[in-house]
Amino acid sequence: MECLTYGTAGMVTTREFISMTMLRMFNDPRLRIRYLAAEEPERLAILNEVIRLEPPVAHLYRRVQARADGCPYDPGALVDIDVRQTNVYPDIFTPEPDGVCTDRQLTASERAGLSFGDGAHRCPGSHLALLETDVLVRALFDAGAVLERSPDHEFDTLVQGYQLRGFSVTFSNSAAAP
Ligand code: HEM
Repeated sequence: MECLTYGTAGMVTTREFISMTMLRMFNDPRLRIRYLAAEEPERLAILNEVIRLEPPVAHLYRRVQARADGCPYDPGALVDIDVRQTNVYPDIFTPEPDGVCTDRQLTASERAGLSFGDGAHRCPGSHLALLETDVLVRALFDAGAVLERSPDHEFDTLVQGYQLRGFSVTFSNSAAAP
């Protein structure tokens, strides 16, 4: 069970996020140039913004245990949290909730919205996932990655998130390709 949990929770999500980050960087050359020139803290802040806007896990489910102040649901109700919508809530993610902005007045764990969950079961691999992404994305661009074919967007019901398939990249600097 441990292996399965880590395989799905840690591998599938990170794999899709790396692809989504590459796609965003290909489609937004200004963001790519800024990211590749930045020091690690700014690169991680950018990746936090990308994962907020593109959550690999799009739905979180919670069972209401007791009625707290302001909770409109009865105990026992199953609540489906739409992570993508939550992550652009304008009262919290201001300015430009739909844009990449690294200057928000938020704590490090708030920056990603609910993309890594929250509370006692918040993702313990969040830092690893962002570091893995940072290492691989930079290695691919260092090797001269060029977009050959944009991926098809599919939906994975297991993790309730996007799947990018048929994504092709070629390398302008083939000697340095990873
Ligand atoms: C971009 C990559 C990742 C995303 C988007 C992600 C997302 C999430 C989310 C949303 C949860 C909470 C689920 C819930 O509350 O219902 C979670 C839990 C978890 N994640 Fe991640 N995760 C990622 C990478 C990783 C990595 C790299 C690892 C391990 C190396 C990992 C291990 C886990 C584990 C073990 C849990 C369960 C924690 C618990 O129930 O206490 N995740 N993840």
